[in-house]
Amino acid sequence: MKALITGATSGIGQSFAAKLSKRGWSLILTGRNEKKLMEMQKSLGGNIEFIAADLAQKEDVYKVYDFCRGKDVDMLVNNAGYGLFGKFEDTDLEDEVNMINVNVTALHILTKLFLRDFKKRDHGTILNVASIAGFMSGPLMASYYASKNYVLKLSVAIYEELRRDHSNVKITVLCPGPVDTNFNNRAGVSFSVKPITADYAAEYALKKAFDGKLFAIPGLFVKLGSIAPRFVPQKLLSAIVYNIQQAKKTSDGKEKALK
Ligand SMILES: NC(=O)c1ccc[n+]([C@@H]2O[C@H](COP(=O)([O-])OP(=O)(O)OC[C@H]3O[C@@H](n4cnc5c(N)ncnc54)[C@H](OP(=O)(O)O)[C@@H]3O)[C@@H](O)[C@H]2O)c1
Repeated sequence: MKALITGATSGIGQSFAAKLSKRGWSLILTGRNEKKLMEMQKSLGGNIEFIAADLAQKEDVYKVYDFCRGKDVDMLVNNAGYGLFGKFEDTDLEDEVNMINVNVTALHILTKLFLRDFKKRDHGTILNVASIAGFMSGPLMASYYASKNYVLKLSVAIYEELRRDHSNVKITVLCPGPVDTNFNNRAGVSFSVKPITADYAAEYALKKAFDGKLFAIPGLFVKLGSIAPRFVPQKLLSAIVYNIQQAKKTSDGKEKALK
């Protein structure tokens, strides 16, 4: 079995790679950090290929797909992603467009191209990494939350199309709350609730994917968060999320990138 993992160089993606490699899977890893990809190829052992790519660039997204062509990939793990913190009027437009390119456009392109291949073979699994943010609006991280809404809604819709087709192709969407990745170091923020580990998030998601489940929502608190929008009016929920995000601000008051 073979998987393509985006954002494999760190955090949840690195855990996906370790867990699938342990299960004997062949892997195609991608990320921008070529040195890290090389190190992972050595340390994981087994059949590991990699391709360095910046998924904010559309041509790199197609480069990744072309690299995988004819290699009978069984699972696509669309994990690469990050976010930007700050008031919508203040966040850098170029940074934000790049983030949307990675979180939304790259995931969209890869999902469509691999889905078509998987449908032809009537076999394959897509594992999209969204977030609990996908269930709500996110003042102070507005575009990140919106991007994860896209991932979530796209995945749910595809699931229904596959179900109607009685397809053996599966799609799962991982919606974690805080996960202890490079998040704290790079963003200089602290979590308002205890984060789960990247290993736990990856293992949980893989189990759900292997079971053919649509949702992978790890943790009771996060599950409750995912159903809150059914009972709490959007404006009230948005006010609550604002306060949660505000509490994550760095002590020096800077607004930095979040995963
Ligand atoms: N940590 C959390 O609390 C949390 C919660 C919910 C959802 N998530 C989601 O989980 C996913 C993984 O994030 P993480 O928490 O594991 O963060 P992470 O440790 O920072 O990993 C992010 C990965 O995305 C890749 N990436 C970023 N920009 C890229 C670009 N332009 N082109 C290609 N790859 C790029 C990075 O690789 P390179 O640097 O090598 O490019 C890295 O491997 C993301 O989609 C994130 O939104 C995270």
